[in-house]
Amino acid sequence: MSEGLVTVSYIGATILFILTLGGLSNQETARRGNLYGIIGMTLAIVATVFGPEVSGTMSYILIAVMMGIGGAVGITLARKVEMTQMPELVAILHSLVGLAAVLVGYVNFMDKTISLVGPEKVIHEVEIYVGILIGAITFSGSIIAFGKLSGKIGGNPLLLPARHFLNLGLLIATIWLCTVFVHQAETGGGTLPLLIMTLIALAFGVHMVMAIGGADMPVVIALLNSYSGIAAALAGFILGNTVLIIAGSLVGTSGLILTQIMCVAMNRSLTNVLFGKMAAGGEAIDADEVYAGKVTSAQPDEVAMILETAQRVVIVPGYGMAMAQAQHAVRELADAMQAKGIDVEYGIHPVAGRMPGHMNVLLAEAEVPYDKLVEMDKINPTFEDTDVVIVIGANDVTNPMARDVEGSPIYGMPILNVDKAKTVVVIKRSLSPGFAGLPNPLFAMDHTLMVYGDGKKAVVEMTVALNQA
Ligand code: TAP
Repeated sequence: MSEGLVTVSYIGATILFILTLGGLSNQETARRGNLYGIIGMTLAIVATVFGPEVSGTMSYILIAVMMGIGGAVGITLARKVEMTQMPELVAILHSLVGLAAVLVGYVNFMDKTISLVGPEKVIHEVEIYVGILIGAITFSGSIIAFGKLSGKIGGNPLLLPARHFLNLGLLIATIWLCTVFVHQAETGGGTLPLLIMTLIALAFGVHMVMAIGGADMPVVIALLNSYSGIAAALAGFILGNTVLIIAGSLVGTSGLILTQIMCVAMNRSLTNVLFGKMAAGGEAIDADEVYAGKVTSAQPDEVAMILETAQRVVIVPGYGMAMAQAQHAVRELADAMQAKGIDVEYGIHPVAGRMPGHMNVLLAEAEVPYDKLVEMDKINPTFEDTDVVIVIGANDVTNPMARDVEGSPIYGMPILNVDKAKTVVVIKRSLSPGFAGLPNPLFAMDHTLMVYGDGKKAVVEMTVALNQA
């Protein structure tokens, strides 16, 4: 493939990547967006593999074998992974992007056929240094994020004493090592400062994510997504590959925008998230004090009787709905209510579940019409006119402490004001806390009924009782 054809293919791939992001911004066009992405990526890979940079039968064999192994692992994982495990999968995939950037940097550093001189050489060395730096932070940070999200590492933040000074020290050491590296690389050296910096970056990635509390994890995932894009873009600079620079930049910037959206949804500034302030004070709130003697429970058939007289019902799903795989049962309950003339909508909090858009994806899978899913800002003013809210497996995103209790660790996080409805039904297995580890005063309110049990089972029983009524 000629240089000209490669350039044209790269331009085509770039346009397709931009169309992908446009498509993914809306549920109705998301499938099309994905298709654009697949075609764009295929085009970019074909142009790179058959372009002038790759030559010799051995190179093609190596690429084919590696793509075969990578593709097989990818397909197996994608088939096996449950919807509830998606955030972990995303985290581990980010770590691979980081690792790839580190390897690209080292291979390029060791490649003695590159003969740059003067400022070009310095720029190339800085690219290698920064590429490895960001790649290593992304790699180790994402592995810790994977551990936290999959429950292999506890959700509590690890707050080392004087950690801000530690971070500052690491930053200064990294900058100093960069000057040493560039200087030594002039005369063919530089391996030692590069290795030390890599170790520092790996340690920093671990420290950065370990210091972040459970409820701030979505922001960190979005941020690591952005880092993985920057790492890929830097690998593109090192390799002189335009499409990698562009694709990496698109991932980097969209990750930053997502980070910002997540920060707003949880009312955290990015600095607050990164310096782990969120968790402070959580342990001081005593669950017994919140719940003792104040919680009312109900059976699914009792709830069905209340639903029968309702005119408007809002369903609020959370992580527990995903855990119970109750999305289809929830839709059937909504169908049963609608058949009785009840107006039913779904209230969707932007960080309900464990990843952005988690609830939307599950409910779309159960074929709930998109227009029934109402975002937090739009549904909140309607709760006062709602007869019954059914909260299924949601906890933190309905916790009134975030609105009312100034000292609480989640204070300021926007919530779904479900407590304003006439009756609140909460389906969960126990009174145990959600991701943020806090008790929820909603469960102890006079107009709240707790239905204890697995989300799917409880909803199915409600539907049966409602249909028989
Ligand atoms: P959570 O606050 O984590 O609450 C989920 C609740 O579901 C738990 O209290 C649990 O109570 C219940 N549950 C679990 N399995 C269940 C089952 N089989 N049947 C019924 N209930 C079940 O979830 P949320 O309200 O969706 O809030 C999301 C939280 O996760 C926020 O703190 C958010 O910051 C954080 N987070 C969000 C994201 C994104 S981007 N969405 C990513 C990471 C973290 P029981 O054990 O008593 O059943």
